[in-house]
Amino acid sequence: MSKSSVNQVLLREQIHVGADLPAWLAQGGGAGLARALQQPEAIIATIAAADLRGMGGAGFATHRKWSAAAAASGPDKTIVCNGNEDEPGTFKDRFLLEHTPHQVIEGALIAALAIGANQVVLYINPHEPRALAAVGAALQQWRGHALLAQIEQRLGGPVSLAVLPSSGLYVGGEETAVIASVEGGFPFPRRKPPYPAEQGVHGRPTVVNNTETLAHVPGILRHGADWYRGLGLGAASGTKLYSLSGDVLRPGLYELPMGTPLEELVFGHGGGMLQGKEFKAVFTGGPSNTLLTQRDLDVALDFDSLRERRSRLGTGAMIVVSEGTSIVRKVAEYVEFFAQGSCGQCPPCKGGTFQLTRLLNRIDTGRGVAADLESLENLCRILPGSGRCGLIDGAVTVVESSLHRFRDEYEALLGR
Ligand code: NAI
Repeated sequence: MSKSSVNQVLLREQIHVGADLPAWLAQGGGAGLARALQQPEAIIATIAAADLRGMGGAGFATHRKWSAAAAASGPDKTIVCNGNEDEPGTFKDRFLLEHTPHQVIEGALIAALAIGANQVVLYINPHEPRALAAVGAALQQWRGHALLAQIEQRLGGPVSLAVLPSSGLYVGGEETAVIASVEGGFPFPRRKPPYPAEQGVHGRPTVVNNTETLAHVPGILRHGADWYRGLGLGAASGTKLYSLSGDVLRPGLYELPMGTPLEELVFGHGGGMLQGKEFKAVFTGGPSNTLLTQRDLDVALDFDSLRERRSRLGTGAMIVVSEGTSIVRKVAEYVEFFAQGSCGQCPPCKGGTFQLTRLLNRIDTGRGVAADLESLENLCRILPGSGRCGLIDGAVTVVESSLHRFRDEYEALLGR
């Protein structure tokens, strides 16, 4: 774990009080919620001014989602904290849920107040039993608490708090699959729009927010939007959890200013490459995005800067690989993960991820021919957009990007 002196709002050790609500409140917890209770109508404007983005990968403006749900009248709105986290290389949400669950729950309660939701669901990956247990115990302490009673008074009725173990499937983290799970079904994604904020659980407005996104909310309400914006570098706002793994000396979870350069993360905080190794590439965001290489070391790790490089920040996962690592092998492994994670609803996704895996494995094991490379390229052209969710697009992106940046490695493996 990083011992960085950077202003840490999520990983500050003092707030790692587990399920102990009095200890959380003694650390200043509850102050954001208290402020939100004083002026519920100002919550969304504060989140907008802070420029809080969705930390699950898309970086979508949180206030836009909340506004859409708040605009709808009527009962039975839901806030879901998405703690399914199953993207390879991403290990941030489980840490927050286990060590500082009240920070996440307080964020979800502020969101409930903002949109007028009477249901709060914490949707947790059962493969993370410590996170699941901590959240269950933490929620129990909010039930009957005076702060919850004040929210209920404001909203004019009871607020239900529930913890729901997810299916543990990768696709179960996709937000429309989350909704299907909350409704009691198999986590099949569906097409959007309508967005969940318009039509979610049982057709009612539902905000599905990533765990890290919600964890930022209490601090923003407590200290204000300017404080949060000031934590970021350049035009970027706030802090970000980066899951750093791969061939670096000090892999781990780092909370750094949003917009920290890749080079600083890898060579500063991460301690640089393992002895004797040269930096080669980074699989970002979970490995479903465009690969970053040596020439991207200067890039600021924030949503907008990475988009300018035609990549994406995603969840903030950075899987570093060194010279000597086969890019084709790595890509084959990740695409196989996506193939196994496909729910099978959409034939192009089910068949496409299978075909991509087959071709990549052939090439990787020296059985590929030039026509296989052509087939890979054709699949990369025809598959995007063919699924109900983004799974197939992520698989194609990493293949396409590796072909673009490391074509020589593919060619060197052909026809041996
Ligand atoms: P998306 O771009 O479709 O949507 C992002 C969010 O904005 C969603 O919550 C959506 O409902 C909301 N939204 C978009 N337009 C809206 C509108 N007009 N009104 C109201 N809400 C609106 O992206 P998606 O598919 O939700 O997420 C993709 C990202 O997820 C990728 O960047 C990927 O990196 C990441 N991901 C994360 C995983 C994890 O384990 N955390 C696993 C797999 C992918």
